[in-house]
Amino acid sequence: MSHFPSSSICFIVIISILVSNSTLLCNGGKTSVYVRKAEKSVEMPLHSDVFQAPSGYNAPQQVHITQGDHVGKAVIVSWVTEDEPGSNTVVYWRENSKEKKKAMGNVYTYKFYNYTSGFIHHCTIRNLEYDTKYYYVVGDRNSMRKFWFTTPPQVGPDVPYTFGIMGDLGQTYASNITLTHYENNPEKGQAVLFVGDLSYADNHPNHDNVRWDTWARFVERSAAYQPWIWTAGNHEIDFAPEIGETKPFKPYTHRYHVPYRASQSTAPFWYSIKRASAYIIVLSSYSAYGKYTPQNQWLEQELPKVNRSETPWLIVLTHSPWYNSYNYHYMEGETMRVMYEPWFVEHKVDIVLSGHVHAYERSERVSNIAYNIMNGECRPVKDLSAPVYITIGDGGNIEGLANNMTEPQPEYSAYREASFGHAIFDIKNRTHARYSWHRNHDGYAVEADSMWFFNRFWHPVDESSQ
Ligand SMILES: *[C@@H]1O[C@H](CO)[C@@H](O)[C@H](O)[C@H]1NC(C)=O
Ligand SMILES: *[C@@H]1O[C@H](CO)[C@@H](O)[C@H](O)[C@H]1NC(C)=O
Ligand SMILES: *[C@@H]1O[C@H](CO)[C@@H](O)[C@H](O)[C@H]1NC(C)=O
Ligand SMILES: *[C@@H]1O[C@H](CO)[C@@H](O)[C@H](O)[C@H]1NC(C)=O
Ligand SMILES: *[C@@H]1O[C@H](CO)[C@@H](O)[C@H](O)[C@H]1NC(C)=O
Ligand SMILES: [Fe+2]
Repeated sequence: MSHFPSSSICFIVIISILVSNSTLLCNGGKTSVYVRKAEKSVEMPLHSDVFQAPSGYNAPQQVHITQGDHVGKAVIVSWVTEDEPGSNTVVYWRENSKEKKKAMGNVYTYKFYNYTSGFIHHCTIRNLEYDTKYYYVVGDRNSMRKFWFTTPPQVGPDVPYTFGIMGDLGQTYASNITLTHYENNPEKGQAVLFVGDLSYADNHPNHDNVRWDTWARFVERSAAYQPWIWTAGNHEIDFAPEIGETKPFKPYTHRYHVPYRASQSTAPFWYSIKRASAYIIVLSSYSAYGKYTPQNQWLEQELPKVNRSETPWLIVLTHSPWYNSYNYHYMEGETMRVMYEPWFVEHKVDIVLSGHVHAYERSERVSNIAYNIMNGECRPVKDLSAPVYITIGDGGNIEGLANNMTEPQPEYSAYREASFGHAIFDIKNRTHARYSWHRNHDGYAVEADSMWFFNRFWHPVDESSQ
C-alpha cells in the first residue's frame, strides 16, 4: 500500500497555484457540476394514488417479498389485512404448470402508542426451482390478489444477475420518481438491495405508523414482484420513550422479515444471502458491533465462509457510510469502520453500499487500516484489496437533499453529487460487473456516474486506470 502518487503531484500543483495566485483547489475526484435546485421534498398526501388500498373486503395490501433462505430457493411473502386476520395461506404455482401448491404463514399484530397495526402475514415458500417464474395468490374468497416473481438462477460463479440499489426512500413525490426511474430503467433490476430508511414514519407526530402502511402500499408495485433485500436504518429504530415506546425496531421487525437464521445469525439486523453469483452481507449500524458482541462474532465467522469460487461477488450493505465527504452524519460510520475495515480488506470485499446521507458519492479503492495510535498513519491510502464505497441515500425522502460538501473534495472521493437517484449493479460474469448511477432529473437510460467493476478475487486490476 502506498499513498496516492497523485499527492505529490497535488503538492506541486498547489505550489504552482500559489505562485500563479489562482483560486483552484487541489481536489481528489470529481464533484459534479450538476446543481439540482434545492427544494424541500414534499411527502405525498394520504389520498395519493400510490397509497390507495386495494378494493374489496379485507383485501391483502402492502404485499412484498424477500429472499427466504440462504441460496434463493425460498421466498418470504408478506402482506397485511385490515379487517380480520383472514387467510394465512399463499397459493403458488410454476408458470405453465397446473399443479397448485400451498404454504401456511403466520399472522402478527403490534401496537405503537395509540396505533394498532392490521394483521401482518408472513409466509415462507420453500423448495422452489431456480430460475423459474412463479405466480402466487394471497387472500381468500372475499378478495384474492395475484402476483408473480422469478427465482434467481442457481448459485454459481458465472451467473449474470442485475441488482437495483436504492436507499432512504421515504414517500415524497421525489421518492415516487426514484422508484419510477428504477422500474423504467432499461437495464431491468431483478432484485433490490435496499440500504435502509424505509418509510420515515418517525418524522410524523407519535411516529404515526399509518405512514408505515402507506409506504408499503406505495412500494408494492415493485416489492410484490421482486425481492427487496432489507437493511435496517436509523429511521427503523422507532425508539420513543416519550410516548412509552422503548423497544427499538418494533414496527420494522413486525413488518419486514428476513431469513437471518439461514446464515446462523441470531437477530434480523445482520445476515447474509447468496443470490446468483453474489454473496450479500447485511450489517446493522444500529446494533452493537464492538468486540464480543453478537454481530461482531457473527461477522468474524461469516467472512471466511464466503467461497469466491462459488460466489465471486462479495457485497456488503450497511446504512451508515464509512467514507462520506458531505457535512452530514460526518464520521458517524467511523467506529464501525475502525472495527471492520481490516476484515473487508483481508477478504477483498468488492463493494460496500450505504445510505443515510441524502446524496450520492462513490469512493476510490482505499483503506485506512495502518493506524495504531502511535504511528500517525491515519490517512486513507490507495488499496487494490479494498472495496469501493458507495453512498446512495438519495431516494428522495422528506428530509431533503444533503448538498453541503467538505472542501476540498478528499482524494478518496471519486465522484459526488447532491441529486436524488438509484443505481444498478449488473454482474456479467466472475470478473466484470457494470455499475451505473442514474439521477432522477435525467431520462431513464442516462448514466450520471458509472464504472466497470473488476472482481477483487478473480480480476483484481486497478479500475481507476480504465
Ligand atoms: C393518537 O393520538 C393523537 C394525539 O395524541 C391523535 O391526533 C390521533 O388521532 C390518535 N390516533 C388514534 C388512532 O387514536
Ligand atoms: C407516482 O408515480 C406513478 C408512476 O409514474 C404515477 O402513476 C403516479 O401518479 C405518481 N403518483 C404521485 C402521487 O406522484
Ligand atoms: C467452493 O466452491 C467450489 C465451487 O462450488 C467448490 O468446488 C469448492 O469445493 C468450494 N470450496 C469449499 C472450501 O467449500
Ligand atoms: C456547511 O457545513 C459546514 C460544516 O458543518 C458549516 O460550517 C457551513 O456553515 C455549512 N454551509 C452551509 C451553506 O450550510
Ligand atoms: C466477462 O464480461 C466482460 C464484460 O461483458 C467481457 O468483456 C469478458 O470477456 C467476459 N469474460 C468472460 C470470460 O467471458
Ligand atoms: Fe439514515
